[in-house]
Amino acid sequence: MRVAFVGKGGAGKSSLAGTFARVLAGTGERVLALDSDPMPGLAFSLGIDRVDEGLPDETVEEYNDDGHRRFRLRQGLTGVGAVERYAVQGPDGVHFLQLGKAHGQRWDNTRQHFGFQHVLDDLPGDGWSIVGDLPGGTRQPFMTWGRYADTFLVIVEPTPASLLTGRRLARLAATAQAPRVVVVANKVRESEEVERVGERTGLRVLGAVPFDPELETADRLGRAVLDHDPQGQTATAVRSLMDVLLTGMEPS
Ligand SMILES: Nc1ncnc2c1ncn2[C@@H]1O[C@H](COP(=O)(O)OP(=O)(O)OP(=O)(O)O)[C@@H](O)[C@H]1O
Ligand SMILES: [Mg+2]
Repeated sequence: MRVAFVGKGGAGKSSLAGTFARVLAGTGERVLALDSDPMPGLAFSLGIDRVDEGLPDETVEEYNDDGHRRFRLRQGLTGVGAVERYAVQGPDGVHFLQLGKAHGQRWDNTRQHFGFQHVLDDLPGDGWSIVGDLPGGTRQPFMTWGRYADTFLVIVEPTPASLLTGRRLARLAATAQAPRVVVVANKVRESEEVERVGERTGLRVLGAVPFDPELETADRLGRAVLDHDPQGQTATAVRSLMDVLLTGMEPS
């Protein structure tokens, strides 16, 4: 399974992606959880305290391509090798890799991004599931950052701005000919809101996650909701999202 979580800022991508990655790892899958957002998020929802560690300097080398400055993975290092060597081991056996924060001139954004993207493009095929947390907004989630994914989960809150973002993402996905794209209604308080999310985005609703005060409490404590409230509303809803995906839904 290769899924990427997309949606408006604050919709709940990191909270749900981290929970989803751990639940999936708990079924015995080998899971790589990827945070493509330089602002920290996924580490917390996974319950990992190493928040700012991206790929170390040594993984990427610079080379000169006809006068152009380019970056590539160090000679001999593959995407799989980088994951095995540098991904952080987290709870439930999940592996975590992050696009780390930029630090200084030497390790500038370009270099960091290229290195991370090279790893993504060279990720292991068989034997690994991937759960990605993409940055908020619409910036090329389907063409670049999320191109490893076979399923995109658009996380949408039942608010006008989030619904509009979901609708735009659905259009962009169609333009980009993205593989399966479905929507998850998050922070739901009433069942009509789930219908509205489906109608307004035009996407198939994979499921819904209720508004869960315990998730906010977990956030304040800097804990994964799975550790804070393992049988609570969020954990239960994420397990059923996974069941729907695992039991094989038809492509939308
Ligand atoms: N189902 C929910 N019930 C209650 N609160 C929620 C729920 N899902 C997310 N939240 C809260 O919404 C806020 C944003 O969640 P989160 O950080 O997961 O969003 P995000 O989409 O990753 O945001 P960003 O785009 O900034 O990375 C957090 O305070 C989180 O606790
Ligand atoms: Mg986030």
